[in-house]
Amino acid sequence: MKKPLPQHVAIIMDGNGRWAETRGRNRTFGHLRGARVAREIIEACSKRGIENLTLYTFSSENWMRPLEEVSFLMALLSRHLKRERANLVKNDIRFSAIGELSRLPPAVVNEVNETIRATAHCTGMRLTFALSYGGRQDILSAVKLMVAEGLSANSIDEKALEARLQTAGLRDPDLVIRTSGESRLSNFFLWQSAYSEIFITPTLWPDYEAAELDAAFAWYQSRERRYGRTTAQISRANNENQLA
Ligand code: IPE
Ligand code: IPE
Ligand code: MG
Repeated sequence: MKKPLPQHVAIIMDGNGRWAETRGRNRTFGHLRGARVAREIIEACSKRGIENLTLYTFSSENWMRPLEEVSFLMALLSRHLKRERANLVKNDIRFSAIGELSRLPPAVVNEVNETIRATAHCTGMRLTFALSYGGRQDILSAVKLMVAEGLSANSIDEKALEARLQTAGLRDPDLVIRTSGESRLSNFFLWQSAYSEIFITPTLWPDYEAAELDAAFAWYQSRERRYGRTTAQISRANNENQLA
C-alpha cells in the first residue's frame, strides 16, 4: 500500500544569495528569482493536494542583514503578495502568516492582511508565510502567555503550550525541506518539527523545481515514522488498521 503524501510540508527556502553571487550578480537578483520559484512551488503543492504548506520566508535573525538587503526583501514581499493575491484565490489557496508581524513595515503588514482577507473564503491548500519568525521566540511568547494567564504548573502540558504557539490549529509539519545543502533548522519550527522527516537538498532555492518536490515526496513516502516505537510495533499497528 502506498503511503500518503505529507499533509503539512514546510520549506526553508535557502540559497538565493549564493545563486546570484556565482553568477556575478547582486544577492537581490537571487531573491527576485526565489520569489518566482516560490510561486511555482506553491502552485505545484496545491495541484498535488498538499493540505498545508509553510514557507520560511524571513527569520527573526534575518533582520541583522544589511539594511539594503532587508529593505529589498520587504519591498519584494509587498509586491509579491499584491501580485499573487488573485492567483491564490484562483487556486483556492487560503493564506496566513506567522511570526512577529508587528516588526514588519506597515506596507507589508497591509499586504499581508489584505491577502488574508481576500483568501479567507478559500477551502483548498492552506499557505503560511513565516515572516520575522523564530522558533525560540514562538516558544517564549507561548510561555509568557501561559504565565500572563496565570496557568498553574499542573495545568501546563504539551497541549496547553501548543495552543499558544503561532501554529495553533496547524498540524506539525510531516516533511521539512531545506534547500542549499545546509543541515540546520536556523531557528525554524523548533517545537513543531520534533518528529518531522527532514529532507536536505544541495539545490539552491532559485534552481528548485516541481520535479525535486516530487522526489522529496517519494523519499517521504519511503520513510517509516516510528515516533520512538519499534518497527515491529509499527507494522502491527498498520496491519490492525488495514483490518479495521
Ligand atoms: C534565502 O536565501 C532567503 C532568505 C533567507 C531571506 P539567502 O539569502 O539566505 O541565500 P544564501 O543562503 O546567502 O545563499
Ligand atoms: C534561514 O536561512 C531563513 C530563511 C530561509 C528565511 P538563513 O540563510 O537565514 O540561515 P543561516 O543564517 O544560513 O543559518
Ligand atoms: Mg541563507
